[in-house]
Amino acid sequence: MTTRRQLLAGMGAGALALALPGAGWTRGAAAGGQALTMPPLLDATGTGAFELTAQAGQVDFLGLGATETWGYSAPYLGPTLRLPASGSVRATVKNSLSDAVTVHWHGLIIPGVSDGGPHQMVAPGATWKPVLDIDQNPAMLWYHSHVHGRTASQVYRGLAGAIHLSDGRDDERGLPSSYGEDDLTLVLQDRRFDRRGRMVYDPSMPDRMMGFHGDFMLVNGQVGPVASVGRGVIRLRLLNGSNARIYSLATSDGRPLHLIGTDSGLLDVPVALNTLVLAPAERADVLLDLTDGRDVTLISGPEINSGGMMGGMMGGMMGRGGGGRSLDDLVVDPGQSFAVLPIRVDGTRSTRIDRLPDSAGGSRPDLSPEGAVRRQLTLDMRMGPAAMFGGGRFSISGKAFSMRRIDQAVRQGALEHWTVSAPMMMHPFHVHGTAFQVIRENGGPVSARNRGWKDTVLINGEAEILAPFPRVADKDNPYMFHCHILEHEDGGMMGQFTVT
Ligand code: C2O
Ligand code: CU
Ligand code: CU
Repeated sequence: MTTRRQLLAGMGAGALALALPGAGWTRGAAAGGQALTMPPLLDATGTGAFELTAQAGQVDFLGLGATETWGYSAPYLGPTLRLPASGSVRATVKNSLSDAVTVHWHGLIIPGVSDGGPHQMVAPGATWKPVLDIDQNPAMLWYHSHVHGRTASQVYRGLAGAIHLSDGRDDERGLPSSYGEDDLTLVLQDRRFDRRGRMVYDPSMPDRMMGFHGDFMLVNGQVGPVASVGRGVIRLRLLNGSNARIYSLATSDGRPLHLIGTDSGLLDVPVALNTLVLAPAERADVLLDLTDGRDVTLISGPEINSGGMMGGMMGGMMGRGGGGRSLDDLVVDPGQSFAVLPIRVDGTRSTRIDRLPDSAGGSRPDLSPEGAVRRQLTLDMRMGPAAMFGGGRFSISGKAFSMRRIDQAVRQGALEHWTVSAPMMMHPFHVHGTAFQVIRENGGPVSARNRGWKDTVLINGEAEILAPFPRVADKDNPYMFHCHILEHEDGGMMGQFTVT
């Protein structure tokens, strides 16, 4: 059996058992150790147009045999779309699957009609042609299917990809920018497989409560890949594309992760973090200083989300719900961790950037809550046998999601002040049509990782956000707000709102 230490050592040739600790796999497959690849880059900044096709494919993830997958113009996942941070882009989405899908542009601030949420279904054989009228900060966003009740299984099968919103000025900012060279896009996912290498999605009751967790770590759809980079400063654009797993990212030798950007934009200055908590749907733009030429492994601590079946007891233990310890202070014990990505430094290759920049070239939001419209939302989970066997386990402020009910009406151009609380466990709360500012967590200061522009925030007790809504979403094409643990979202922890 492979020990965690061996996993941390970087998985030499022929390494076995890439399963996450506790997965019950004592012997894995022959996979692992191959070179990390980037999703193909689909650059629409020059053409102003791109096309994606939802399609079926087959992938042999573990070397145990192929499994059925879905992807956008690929067997699994989709290309990284490079889109202008400001400009109009014509998208063409084709669906060659036998199930209806959508393409939601998670983080794009565009009108509801082109948002790709549950109301913009693309039927089998159909084509959808939204115009993406973009004007926001450069950032890494993503896209994924968003069919109500099927988001979890469709995203799990592979219907997701990254978006780089670019203004072409990262070189001026002194930031690494060569795709796949010193600027790595990393889609983090966990998946379960059976002994024949087939990807498994069969959530049990506890899986629905806690969200579906995998046994294997995938980066860009590869199990156990190894990155090779030049000596210098490299950039990791991290996307948590998992259904439910919260990663507590750190490095195997304790060197800091320098956060330069959050979900919806770059920060003003880099922030050095020993641990970076990344919840489902969150992104982090991070610099890693590899000028010493030493190999390092990006690791993650075990799942930190508790609650669910275990109830609020753990919540109390973790000091949540009132001045609890910030997750920024979480210490990842390498002995309890698993490898996310070993990074080898090739000293013969040089990178363009050889020192950390003083500035990240972006901004920190500084909105004033004065005059903002206040709303309160609670992310509810019903416990007990009735909830387990009946419907309606998940809701927001007592209401399980309905496609036919508009839950909130926002005035276009308004600034909204929402207090969102999560009594039972942590939930990554996402809002469409906005980039927001977190102004308080549990009545106190905001964690370092949440101080930039965000579209998803991990609610660990309670958080207050200030959200501007510049675009229109009418009653036939409303925006969504929801938990991004996909089993919770599909289970009803979602609401919809208009902006008019
Ligand atoms: Cu990432 Cu409503 O979605
Ligand atoms: Cu979204
Ligand atoms: Cu949730």
